[in-house]
Amino acid sequence: MFDTTSASTHPDYALLGKQLSSILGNERGLIVNTAQFSALIYHSLSHLNWAGFYLTVPGNQSGGNPVQELLLGPFQGKVACTRIPFGRGVCGTAAAEKRTVVVPDVHAFPGHIACDSASNSEIVIPLLKDGAVLGVLDIDSPQLNRFSAEDQQGLESLLQILMAATDF
Ligand code: SME
Repeated sequence: MFDTTSASTHPDYALLGKQLSSILGNERGLIVNTAQFSALIYHSLSHLNWAGFYLTVPGNQSGGNPVQELLLGPFQGKVACTRIPFGRGVCGTAAAEKRTVVVPDVHAFPGHIACDSASNSEIVIPLLKDGAVLGVLDIDSPQLNRFSAEDQQGLESLLQILMAATDF
């Protein structure tokens, strides 16, 4: 139904954006929209073994200071780590630094949290709203160096569509 994977590893992100808007329709729920997003990405991009969300929640207080952590949300793939503190692993780094992190080889990333030993490369994009990190989108691949600048740009624009259509 949504076969947008071309012969190369790059899907048509403009078409995916139209499909995403159509799939989300007028629904604004966090769970339904992030679940649909995960399924669309997982089945439209080639060579993935995991795609999904971690959402920001309050963590255990650290020395009286409030801390935040990432709690597993809707995803496609094998069972994964449930909670990731801000600053830990690729997801926690993207959340703490409020920037997209592309890792060509996860085995060379200090502190990488290996949920699935099949993962070799990864992209994590934070969900930013008014300066706050609402969560992250995490996508893993068994291929080394799977995620290009074009993928980063395409995925970031898909997330903009998701965020505008969803009540967080
Ligand atoms: N690899 C991630 C952990 C999450 S799983 O891959 C789904 C990380 O280091 O943040």
